[in-house]
Amino acid sequence: MCGIVGYSGKRDAVGLLTSGLSKLEYRGYDSAGIAVCKADGTVEMVKSKGRLAILEEKLANKGLSGNAGIGHTRWATHGEPSDANSHPHRSGRVTLVHNGIIENYMQLKEELIAEGKVFLSDTDTEVVVALIDRFYEEDPIEAIYKTTAVIRGSYALGVMFDDIPNTIYAIRKDSPLVIGVGKDEVIIASDIPAFLSETRDYYLLDEGELAIVRDGTVSFCDATLAEHKKELLTASWDVEAAEKGGYPHFMLKEMHEQPKTLKDTVFPRIDEAGNILKNELKDTSYIKRIHIVGCGSAMHAGLLGKAFIEKYARVPVSVEIASEFRYANPVLGEGDVIVLISQSGETADSLAVIKLAKELNIPTVGIVNVVGSSIARAADTVIYTNAGPEIAVATTKAYTAQVSVLYLLGLRLAADRGTIGTADYNAIVEALKLLPEAAKKVLENEEHYKELAKEYFEARDMFFIGRGQDSALCCEGSLKLKEISYMHSEAYAAGELKHGTISLISEGVPVVAVATTEAMFEKTVSNIKEVTSRGADVIFVTQFDDVGGFYKDKIALPAIHEAIMPILAIIPLQLFAYYVSIERGCDVDKPRNLAKSVTVE
Ligand code: M6R
Repeated sequence: MCGIVGYSGKRDAVGLLTSGLSKLEYRGYDSAGIAVCKADGTVEMVKSKGRLAILEEKLANKGLSGNAGIGHTRWATHGEPSDANSHPHRSGRVTLVHNGIIENYMQLKEELIAEGKVFLSDTDTEVVVALIDRFYEEDPIEAIYKTTAVIRGSYALGVMFDDIPNTIYAIRKDSPLVIGVGKDEVIIASDIPAFLSETRDYYLLDEGELAIVRDGTVSFCDATLAEHKKELLTASWDVEAAEKGGYPHFMLKEMHEQPKTLKDTVFPRIDEAGNILKNELKDTSYIKRIHIVGCGSAMHAGLLGKAFIEKYARVPVSVEIASEFRYANPVLGEGDVIVLISQSGETADSLAVIKLAKELNIPTVGIVNVVGSSIARAADTVIYTNAGPEIAVATTKAYTAQVSVLYLLGLRLAADRGTIGTADYNAIVEALKLLPEAAKKVLENEEHYKELAKEYFEARDMFFIGRGQDSALCCEGSLKLKEISYMHSEAYAAGELKHGTISLISEGVPVVAVATTEAMFEKTVSNIKEVTSRGADVIFVTQFDDVGGFYKDKIALPAIHEAIMPILAIIPLQLFAYYVSIERGCDVDKPRNLAKSVTVE
């Protein structure tokens, strides 16, 4: 989704804006632009369809410079990627960048056209800049608030006025904006990595609050125009964590970080006596039913959480897609709790679910990676996945961290309810402590997964099958493959194949079959035989020994308690997807059409 950067200080804004935008590239974009307040006070902008490199070339030719400016990477929603639709947009004396969607822009646009306004782009954003310009008489703050009072939807805005040099106004609703504060300089951004190389001190901008950034300082006010002070926060992420650290891609680096991220997520949550999540969860006795809600991989993590929680804690769990749940008029009542899972903490649909829960007075638990993100702030209880910044669009380390938190939650609920025996509890706790080392072992076999990728990368389709927790795991394995390699892929519960999908199996179709539970092992093997006898090439993923002969290739997993095996089993599937993507010449970290942080619904 779109990325915003703004700079005000003593240094030249152009370099800082482009370097900030490059740190936000992971969010996904198809065009970019910047506007700078030049030494003579006039605002000039340069924008371009395509990658940042094209913008940088244009900037170099123009020789643009100044001490304040705003920049933007655009992920097209309203209007195709083009120079005209790129941000910043200008109207009269106002220049602006926007992340989000203005839902009532059509109606507002018609009104403005009726007044004689001429629009140069197809974007919803141009309506916002036109409105601010229309409302701007003497007071810029009043003009901004008059505009936010009539627009509906989500927005993070960076605004400059021609007659107020070196000043940026920033405001947000349902789209993120953070404000980094360095020595005599301020950087506004959609996300912390944009300014992490300059400063770790930052403010979180609240909804409806206005930041006024001027000559390297920042002040805050609200709609009453009263100024107020805010708490300055310090990011715990370091620059190295937000950069590639010698790996060719963020995704590869992030997969290799999993031993550490699993440790960082799990270990602090188990105390010496074996109690779990004591600091995060005080009382769980009120929980009678859990709705796990998320999007994409976060929702897939929820599927594994459901299998675990229902098995050990005997609490009914439903797993819901946020974009469906928010409009489904869900049946919710006393004893229900909504567990929202989100890496970014900014996913628009997931955020809407939290708001819905609040309206209905349903308690919420957020399992979130980005500290201080909107979902983290809105949830009644937050359990952070301590995975550090995840930059690659395809989630890997955040997903395994999410699953590990769900397992911890399941164990805690089971212990509180007395639904798990001491031996089982202790065995799983011990296994969780062994996870980081076991993940290292799985990563050591990277060459094997790479070889497999070379063998299968030309396939047209690939299927993933498994039963129970393995069926849930296959959903993620399949998503990983298709999102970064563009190979068509589907995941099925292995027993469901013969109800339709098996007709797609023919000579040479690759099928990844996962069997990580003893109880389902033989049944999955039978399903494998059904597909191999129809010509499928099976890659078998398991920790169990077998007699062989019913698959073509095998990924052998190290032994660990089978209840938490999915965390290990997904790692080879992530690496397999990565190497298939490489073989197919795809842009691994920034797959086409996708964005890291989906801040629009
Ligand atoms: O930031 P979130 O966890 O809320 O994002 C949810 C999904 O958009 C995300 O998991 C997506 O499916 C990933 N690209 C999958 O790799």
